[in-house]
Amino acid sequence: MSSRKRVEVCLTPGEYEYYKGEYDIVVVIDVLRATSAICTAFDYGIRSIIPVSSIEKAKSYKEKGFLVGAERKGQIVEGFDFGNSPYSYMKEEFKGKDVVLSTTNGTRAINIASDAPTVVIGALLNVDALSQWLIEQDKNVLCLCSGWQDKFNLEDTICAGVICDTLIRTGKFTSEEDSSIAAKYLYLSAWDNPLGYLKSSSHRRRLKNLNLNEDIKYCLTPNKTDVIPILKDGKLVKL
Ligand code: MLT
Repeated sequence: MSSRKRVEVCLTPGEYEYYKGEYDIVVVIDVLRATSAICTAFDYGIRSIIPVSSIEKAKSYKEKGFLVGAERKGQIVEGFDFGNSPYSYMKEEFKGKDVVLSTTNGTRAINIASDAPTVVIGALLNVDALSQWLIEQDKNVLCLCSGWQDKFNLEDTICAGVICDTLIRTGKFTSEEDSSIAAKYLYLSAWDNPLGYLKSSSHRRRLKNLNLNEDIKYCLTPNKTDVIPILKDGKLVKL
């Protein structure tokens, strides 16, 4: 029997139930933009982020005096001061702060995966540092793509493909699922020009229509940071 560990890809949160319980580490990925914003927030010195799935829960934290961000369908939800743009977390006011965040898919995926022994946050922004850390752990890894409302998306799958490929190349990991093989092939075709590859992807179009082109470019830039956010007792903190 092979002693190699598994690295697999779950293409949408809707399929997570079929993978649940089998992996030591779940990497939650939402390249556009939740997990990119989360990595950026830690890179710029935020202390913690509580990911919440519903706007009601986000409101209840706001009423208690927390700093709360909320995004739905790419836009800041009325009544909240910030959303999901990585640029909003580059401000001094967030340094050392604890923040609550609710987004359409990303924070929901984090909460769906929260039963796993370890949950970490992945994006293109931290993909090399995260992959190196995963190699050192030598555990079974599942990349959970946040997708869009339980549907497949390209950008999260490409990021999952980078992780799969990097881990498999060490000879210490193997993939058995077709979703993982497909993610690897997508990454290999997209890598020369991720922005061009995603030109007509659904969320890129959605964000472009909201004039969020700079966010898209930033989120598609690999390896801007070494931070690896990790879920501890319901809160994301820096590893
Ligand atoms: C999400 O969680 O679905 C997103 O990151 C959407 C976005 O704000 O771009």
